[in-house]
Amino acid sequence: MAMVLNTQRSKLARCYGLAGVGGFLILAVGLFKSVTAVPQPAIAIPPQTLQETGLYADFATLRIDPSHLAFSPQYPLWSDGAIKRRWISLPPGSTIDGSNPDSFVFPVGTKFWKEFSFNGQRVETRYLERRADGQWLYAAYAWSADGREAQLVSPRGKRGAYPLAGGRTHTIPGVNDCKACHQGGPSEVLGFSVLQLSPERDPNALHAELKLDQGVDLKDLVDRGLVVGLPASVLQTPPRINAASATERAALGYMHGNCGHCHNAQGPLQNIGLFLRQSIEGNGQAAIASTVSHAVRKPAPGQSPDAINRVEPGYPERSALMQRVSSRYPALQMPPLGTELVDDEAVALLYRWIAERGESRKEAHLHQEGR
Ligand code: HEC
Ligand code: HEC
Repeated sequence: MAMVLNTQRSKLARCYGLAGVGGFLILAVGLFKSVTAVPQPAIAIPPQTLQETGLYADFATLRIDPSHLAFSPQYPLWSDGAIKRRWISLPPGSTIDGSNPDSFVFPVGTKFWKEFSFNGQRVETRYLERRADGQWLYAAYAWSADGREAQLVSPRGKRGAYPLAGGRTHTIPGVNDCKACHQGGPSEVLGFSVLQLSPERDPNALHAELKLDQGVDLKDLVDRGLVVGLPASVLQTPPRINAASATERAALGYMHGNCGHCHNAQGPLQNIGLFLRQSIEGNGQAAIASTVSHAVRKPAPGQSPDAINRVEPGYPERSALMQRVSSRYPALQMPPLGTELVDDEAVALLYRWIAERGESRKEAHLHQEGR
């Protein structure tokens, strides 16, 4: 218990403490108390090695068990340039309930893996498993430098897991940080969803794996009978973000994948009133309404005083959202977790989007004047 609470003094605690969102932390601590008060079944302790989770058919050759399905979300999370591979395993004969297309329900025994490599070297593999009590188990395995074994990381995470540019290092998040992202919205599973696996992929999505030859998409899953109960509308029209332009679609998609797990209307941060998670209707209106010409609640430390709005159409450099995405100063940076290096491509994309919003506003204005 003491150890669990100590791990609250993670990067997240420092960020949120600095930024003054004490309520979230109290809520998180409260949550932990109630979880740890319940006697935990033995299975709650993750296996000591990655091998024991069952990812591989043969660990010596690292051959993945062929019954697991590879997938890749169209709007992946930026993790300082890590290359990722992901798999799902469903218990034989079981299905995923898609009747609420905004939040799939996975059968007990579902397992997910996400492998992180830098420069061709495996560094960590993250693991989620749905236990008999319905809770998800969170674990991370750190690969040895020779790539021969991957051991369970302490619940506090691991700093210095791999050197990055500028003297920074990759941190394997602690379990509380996993939960800050994964338990921040309607579904604990983030990248295996109707929008992320839609067969109609966004050609301008950033950092997306282009080669999909081994991955399953929503159509494959439905055809194989693995996702059941989806509303007919989702089957007929592949989900996509119906934005005003290709740039806007990619920008909203990027923020769905990198921000929406915290910034949504359901989770503990809903009172910030920033809604970057796309729901199934997905025309992006909530994200636009809560950013474009929307005043910031409270300027973050380090934010320039002229950034009055989250997004100032036509003025990316005066937009608070832009300043936060371009920063890795802990009290200012967004996202606050899971990244040490600015995502330059995202900065460029969001810059274009905000500049473009200014153009369309000017045009609308001219139109009105012309009448
Ligand atoms: C900064 C937020 C963040 C943190 C911290 C984080 N994740 Fe995730 N994780 C995501 C997002 C977003 C996705 C989906 C997008 C992707 O895979 O690129 C994801 C995907 C996954 C997946 C694949 C299944 C799924 O939900 O799509 C696994 C497994 C996973 N994470 C495990 C973990 C574990 C274990 C930890 C902690 C050791 C962790 N994650 C920490 C945001 C985070
Ligand atoms: C791990 C959760 C988490 C993720 C992921 C995250 N944020 Fe935040 N965000 C917060 C918290 C907590 C705050 C409030 C504290 C603060 O202002 O720093 C916040 C505040 C903000 C604010 C200020 C809102 C206002 O009006 O004051 C903006 C803008 C923002 N985030 C944008 C983003 C963007 C863009 C992304 C993705 C690139 C992102 N965030 C990802 C947790 C998160």
